[in-house]
Amino acid sequence: MKLALANINLGLWAAAYIKETAQSFLSAHPQEAFTLGLPTGGTVTDMYANLRLFYQTGQLDFSPFVTFNMDEYVHLLPEHPQSYHSYMQEHLFSGVNIAPQNRHILNGMTQDPQAECAAYEKAIRQAGGIKLFLGGVGRNGHLAFNEPGSSFTSRTRMVELTPGTREANARFFGNQLDKVPTHALTVGIATLLDAQEILILASGSKKAQAVSTFAQSEPTESCPLTALKLHPNAMLLIDKEAASLLPQDLKQCFTDLQTQNPEAAIYCLEL
Ligand code: GLP
Repeated sequence: MKLALANINLGLWAAAYIKETAQSFLSAHPQEAFTLGLPTGGTVTDMYANLRLFYQTGQLDFSPFVTFNMDEYVHLLPEHPQSYHSYMQEHLFSGVNIAPQNRHILNGMTQDPQAECAAYEKAIRQAGGIKLFLGGVGRNGHLAFNEPGSSFTSRTRMVELTPGTREANARFFGNQLDKVPTHALTVGIATLLDAQEILILASGSKKAQAVSTFAQSEPTESCPLTALKLHPNAMLLIDKEAASLLPQDLKQCFTDLQTQNPEAAIYCLEL
């Protein structure tokens, strides 16, 4: 498991990483699709802007991509401006050539959440599993909408959001807490851990506590982010603000790497 500090814009690095990973997979497996797990949230808007730019400038063809989003609010129409359907349309799908039938997002309006979630797991399996799962992290360490306490064996399911997560996301709903849905459908921690590779981005001081807990604790269900430590090919990429509460020894390791190579795009530690 890698903990990496970015020396350039997180979103630019992540977009370039998706591009390289997809292109190298597709050149080795030209008949296959590249299956990508996708997040929403403020952290990843730059990443999506860079992916759109790669497409517009002819650097990346998205036609062999199959995508699966992490989560969706319950009881929010897909057309609602704050649904993750709308978010994905705005930030990625409207600007790249991923065929509509290759984009998957959980249906938060379903009458039967259990069947919807089981079908989602099945669709991921039928697509051959996820090659690379991108994600952000909540202030309390949540991954997708797996709040603290979520089992590491959890699968796609309906969950209740914590008051803290609803407050954090109220900024997208005109700061009106009562407008923030109380429930969501989300992939599980085990769904995430099944991916061949995971890249989680954390930026800003509001994520510093979760990053610090992650760095200092054994895998624990009280901090979903620590599940990454159970994965052989996972990376948590952070910016300077998110690194601000790391223990001094890790900060020193990053400083040393930076001194050795001031121009590097990221500095990587094996945890
Ligand atoms: C929501 C999403 C998460 C995301 C988190 C962080 O709760 N369900 O997948 O990681 O927000 O969002 P932001 O990047 O806006 O801080």
